[in-house]
Amino acid sequence: MPESRVPRRVPRGRRFLVCEPRYFAVRYAINPWMSPDRPVDVLRALDQWQALVDAYRAHGHVVERVAPVPGLPDMVFAANAAVMVGGRVLGSRFRAPERRAESLPYEAWFKARGFDVRQPEAVCEGEGDLTPAGRWVLAGTGFRTAPEAHREAQEFFGVPVISLTLVDPYFYHLDTALFTLDDENVAYYPEAFSPGSREVLGRLYPEAVLATREDALAFGLNSVSDGRHVFVSPGATALAGRLAERGYVPVPVDLSELHKAGGGIKCCTQEIRS
Ligand code: ARG
Repeated sequence: MPESRVPRRVPRGRRFLVCEPRYFAVRYAINPWMSPDRPVDVLRALDQWQALVDAYRAHGHVVERVAPVPGLPDMVFAANAAVMVGGRVLGSRFRAPERRAESLPYEAWFKARGFDVRQPEAVCEGEGDLTPAGRWVLAGTGFRTAPEAHREAQEFFGVPVISLTLVDPYFYHLDTALFTLDDENVAYYPEAFSPGSREVLGRLYPEAVLATREDALAFGLNSVSDGRHVFVSPGATALAGRLAERGYVPVPVDLSELHKAGGGIKCCTQEIRS
């Protein structure tokens, strides 16, 4: 695109819910990134996580916190605990028994603020697999969230839910393979999806920003965009270049310590959409 044709992107203020990685650890392996033998540096994780919170605030976003619970090492991944659309909160039901207890403290957080929380019947890992995208919700399945939960979400939100099948175990949650840039467009790594799902994405988003495998392996698709700024892993260099060409402003935030558990920026961030 010639310089003059690059659109001026306008950010929209967001409200995020996060959880400090005070009790972060890799004690079990429920995705290919996790190896309990490799040490994690909790202080480093805390510093990196704080830099993410600071970056959000520096860009005008509101950040709220849920208190971490000892014994729940993955609780830092706030995105998995619920998904909120138009003030309605759909809670979570984790596939791994090790993570099931995380649902409750998040549910309590929402209830204390006056929100009802619908408990899903099928396995449902919140915004990890359910991505509100303007007029519809994109929903991943294949590794974690069950297709029945996609139907529950559609019924509960009254918003069309578009089911997409993930096929690569490294990209086990939808938010490791795709993120929304704004209400109209997304960025994704095509090979993480089944052929049919790839075709669906191609029809819905002919202008999508496509990422390489290197971008995806660097957690580049686990990004958060406010419509202008894209909080993105610094390792996703090709992706950052493509975003900049389209008028987005990459804001690099390094969460390499959290990558050891298979999570990045978006995993640590739940959006409060009231
Ligand atoms: N260790 C966590 C798990 O495997 C990481 C979750 C990452 N969260 C995400 N939204 N992808 O469940």
